[in-house]
Amino acid sequence: MIPIKSSEITPEAVYNSRRQFMKGVGALALGAAALAACGAPADQAAAPASAANPGATAAPAGAARVDELGDPANSVQEITHYNNFYEFTTDKQRVAELAGTLRTRPWTVEVGGLVRNPRTFAIEDILSGFDQEERVYRLRCVEGWSMVIPWLGFPLNKLLAQVEPTSEAKYVRFETLLDPDQMPGQRSPWLEWPYAEGLRLDEAMHDLTLLVTGLYGETLLPQNGAPLRLVTPWKYGFKSIKSIVKIDLIADQPSSLWMIAAPKEYGFYANVNPEVAHPRWSQRSERRIGESGRRETLMFNGYAEEVAGLYAGMDLRKNY
Ligand code: MTE
Repeated sequence: MIPIKSSEITPEAVYNSRRQFMKGVGALALGAAALAACGAPADQAAAPASAANPGATAAPAGAARVDELGDPANSVQEITHYNNFYEFTTDKQRVAELAGTLRTRPWTVEVGGLVRNPRTFAIEDILSGFDQEERVYRLRCVEGWSMVIPWLGFPLNKLLAQVEPTSEAKYVRFETLLDPDQMPGQRSPWLEWPYAEGLRLDEAMHDLTLLVTGLYGETLLPQNGAPLRLVTPWKYGFKSIKSIVKIDLIADQPSSLWMIAAPKEYGFYANVNPEVAHPRWSQRSERRIGESGRRETLMFNGYAEEVAGLYAGMDLRKNY
């Protein structure tokens, strides 16, 4: 992630030619030190409306959905054209265009490790085998922007119940598809691919933790992590891993892509916490995409009542 967008510190012509270059080779020409888990500056406006996006245009207007705090959902346009998906580009406003070619069929998700009943699910079986419900959640990026998104999905615990974790299973590790031909950003040597994330088993079993297959009542688009992604609304957005192909139940705490890339900046828990600053910026406030001012960031992104108990007795400054 890049705390300051390169377009703001680079003359426009240079920036444009570099964008062209990056499009051509698909490389992330960035040193590890320049990366941050959510690339956009917090005051970056969402992309203007643009062309072809059938799923998006089919969905109803954002105004109809609100979260439990009464805040309206962001528009389909904002949610589908302002994205982080480093496998394609570090430019949020081009993810939709570059990820559009991702082949999401056939797609399988291998669920195994410390389970009694390992299974490889075809995506069709996931779509038909679990009741899909809408949940309107806040998404808070670690760099200080946020959105409200009406996801369509089902609790991860329903899928885990089918594979039956053994008593040795203490953590869950998730992996994104590894396919540099389709995902040219994976040729970047600065990050360790595939994108990986992890949860403690009790976090994974929590009812708020979703496996997501759609948004605004429509099938998920590639830029948002099609065909299957994780959503953990009380954690920074980078935990919500996209385009999952593998889920493993394991005994020891796994490392994630961001923990490996910048261990002093990104920890395993990544719970939204206004009291614990990122080493390079405060986390006290955020900008809701589509709004001009800043809002106070809420503890656990406003889900403290539901999840604070998971961390009772833990020092959240150490376990960041
Ligand atoms: N998953 C993968 N595989 N690759 C990524 O680059 N970015 C993360 C997360 N999941 C990312 C990912 C970050 S930093 C954020 S903020 C959210 O996806 C953004 O989700 P959205 O684009 O659907 O809003």
